[in-house]
Amino acid sequence: MIEIRPLREAIGAEVRGVALGESISQKDAMILRSAFVEYVLLIFRGMELDDLELKTSADWLGSIGKIHMPLGRRRDEDLNIQLVSNIRNEFNEEIGSFGDSDMWFHHDNSFSQAPDKATWLYSVELPKTGGNTLFNNCYLSWEALPHKLKTKIAGKKVLQVYDYTVKQEPDLSDLVRIPHCWQPAVLIHPETKRPALYVNRLMSAAIQGMDKSDASDLLQDLFYYIERIDYEHTWSLGDYLIWDNRCSAHARTSFPPDQRRLLKRGKVAGEILKPFGYDGKQS
Ligand SMILES: [Fe+2]
Repeated sequence: MIEIRPLREAIGAEVRGVALGESISQKDAMILRSAFVEYVLLIFRGMELDDLELKTSADWLGSIGKIHMPLGRRRDEDLNIQLVSNIRNEFNEEIGSFGDSDMWFHHDNSFSQAPDKATWLYSVELPKTGGNTLFNNCYLSWEALPHKLKTKIAGKKVLQVYDYTVKQEPDLSDLVRIPHCWQPAVLIHPETKRPALYVNRLMSAAIQGMDKSDASDLLQDLFYYIERIDYEHTWSLGDYLIWDNRCSAHARTSFPPDQRRLLKRGKVAGEILKPFGYDGKQS
């Protein structure tokens, strides 16, 4: 019997009574999809999933997405599962990506034409402390914006740039080499039709029609709202988290470099995002 237990008022629910990787009934798939839309972040605990099972673990939500990080930047080579890890092999090479530092709030893949609908993360090996994942509900971030900021940003496009290692502001000096895409600064969620703020410190680099200094000031003002921590997840082994990338942002706390951490990460493919226009009357 499937059970959905809300975690925080702003975001998240824990799901019980579902074994991901096994076949899920149409009825349960519908319950999961509806919980995903309502709570934005779903947590499944105590999962035991091999790679084949991981690849079907989000079939109830949509088609599996490809990992966008260029293989040259990765040690792992699976097109659908990425290793998020600081562990090194016998040649002292990292087996995965993203090291042990903190990571700023961001939306996965916002620099691509059709950003991921969802990301999942599954824990395999964990440090004793740190490496927590932080979440922000971007519907609420939009709603919290003062009217003046809403009118300044709605309807604008923001340049989303992929040029990060772990924590680094976007670099615009060599855009030919770097994946990038203009995206709505405020999107309309395709299912709920609600507006969500869609800018982040790691990838948002410019605003259409604004000079660099004005854009930078406005982005700084907006980051304050996207970086509010609505839920902080302290990982346990076997935790599987899946979240809606269109209406949430996430970040990571650092962890001790001498401790090992391995999470496996995958995607549910998304679609082209539509902008939200603000006429001063809507919330
Ligand atoms: Fe991410």
